[in-house]
Amino acid sequence: MKPVIKSFSDHGTFVQPDTLDYIMSQKEPKEFADFILKNLKEYPLVLSIDQVKTIEQSTKIEEMPRPAISLPEQKEIQSKTLSAIYGGELPSVFTDEDHELEYDDPDKDDQIDLPDEGIQEPEPPQVIEIKKVKGWKPPARDYDAEISIIKDVTGNSTCEGTTTDFTKLFVNRYSALRKILRSQRREMANAIPINRIKKNSMKEVQLVGIIKDIRTTKNGHRLVELEDETDVATCIALKDNRDIMQMANEIVYDEIVGIKGQLSKNGDLIIIQNIFFPDISMQNGRHKAEIPVCAAFLSDIHIGSKQFMEDEWQAFLRWINGEMGNSRQKDVAGKIKYLVIPGDVVDGIGIYPNQEMELSITDVYRQYEALAEQLRLIPDHISIIMQPGNHDAVRPAEPQPTFEKEIQNLFSGKDITFVGNPCYFSLHGVEILSYHGQSLLDFATNIQQLKYNEPVEIMKVMLKKRHLAPTYGGYTPLAPEHLDYMIIDRVPDIFVTGHVHLATIGEYRGVTLLNASSWQSQTSYQKMLNFMPVSAKLPIIDLKTGNVTMMDFNTKL
Ligand SMILES: [Fe+2]
Repeated sequence: MKPVIKSFSDHGTFVQPDTLDYIMSQKEPKEFADFILKNLKEYPLVLSIDQVKTIEQSTKIEEMPRPAISLPEQKEIQSKTLSAIYGGELPSVFTDEDHELEYDDPDKDDQIDLPDEGIQEPEPPQVIEIKKVKGWKPPARDYDAEISIIKDVTGNSTCEGTTTDFTKLFVNRYSALRKILRSQRREMANAIPINRIKKNSMKEVQLVGIIKDIRTTKNGHRLVELEDETDVATCIALKDNRDIMQMANEIVYDEIVGIKGQLSKNGDLIIIQNIFFPDISMQNGRHKAEIPVCAAFLSDIHIGSKQFMEDEWQAFLRWINGEMGNSRQKDVAGKIKYLVIPGDVVDGIGIYPNQEMELSITDVYRQYEALAEQLRLIPDHISIIMQPGNHDAVRPAEPQPTFEKEIQNLFSGKDITFVGNPCYFSLHGVEILSYHGQSLLDFATNIQQLKYNEPVEIMKVMLKKRHLAPTYGGYTPLAPEHLDYMIIDRVPDIFVTGHVHLATIGEYRGVTLLNASSWQSQTSYQKMLNFMPVSAKLPIIDLKTGNVTMMDFNTKL
């Protein structure tokens, strides 16, 4: 069964249990799975048995049109599935009565642990004893920490949720990104306001605006409505122009783009000749620390969840204290000066339906207390930077200001810098953009070629758009701050996200990209959807050389 599941997960598609049974009942299940994948004309997130049968039928009877799931339906399924996997704000269509993702499974009660009778006693993870290791002299102890916060909404929130707030936010976004587009793109230097288009005398126009609407016409062209402070222009990407169509398919609502186009004969339509994104430049100089210290990235700890990986976590604690590992691994441990935690530090409460069944600690403050007990075992010479995520007890709308004083006080005695989400900060001059990453799912849902399980590819698109979460009304709740904290106005040296429980490293135009794993094993929902997280891994960056390594605590050190 494993090779079949692997084929689908490599493809980024989940298989419903009954679909999997059907595939396994075939003579050659692996070949049959590959055949299905080859003949998929869309990239469904969840593969249903009906889709498999449709493919079988359509390949038997030539010329038979294959009914595909329509885009809105596909989006709805994706949204539900991703909510189920990662928790978070659920779409209103997802209710307890909605059984679309459920199936009859005789072992279901084994998969979702039901609470025992009566009130469940909290079971915080065990606090291990760390022995002093003779001769352990971590070089990082010799250096003072140097953290500076560059941009953070914490303490600067202005929004009250009025319409004026939204106007201010969009004006800020538009002017900041227009400035970037105009300074970087020669073609955009002559961009004109939309109301200055002279329908009779102009042939070619350059415009910068916010995407108001984007849709496909009956004939397969893409229609883009671009808005600026003066007017709205209707632009069209013609389906025969592949390059332009490809760019048009990467556009999402509410982002800022530049468009160069030709006016149609009657002047009502602009035929798109080029689309410009406020991308980062090809080469970006990397800041480097002058001292040989490392930063480790530890996302989605999810303390309070029954699936918190206590054994692997304890191995991590022993390693970072010099108790475990071979000499090379101990060398790395000794160089760690910073621990960056990009959100979902606890599992939280009430994040998704029936979460209480999945919790080992049902009180959110106790979850933070338990985390504080664990972080006390981190050596004192290591500075921690902690950011909230969608499971944390802060406002859900992004940008999220950091944890309340009441929670921060639970960690007293530890050197922790509490920051918001997202946050730009620097360590010895090396600039880091840390973002929990809820919008990774919006990008994966709205742009067809992106997959939620390839977060680094999505992060490249964020850099290209210079925005972490442009789209309102999607999966990521957004707060209308007067300054758009989700803009990527500075090019960081390191860009880190979490949220999708994967561990990947990448690079884009000189920026190091990281998705920083998780410390939660497969949850019952994830199991039901065949999603296998990549947990208990720790990406580490040497701030002096820029080199990246990944420690894996799934295997014995
Ligand atoms: Fe998350």
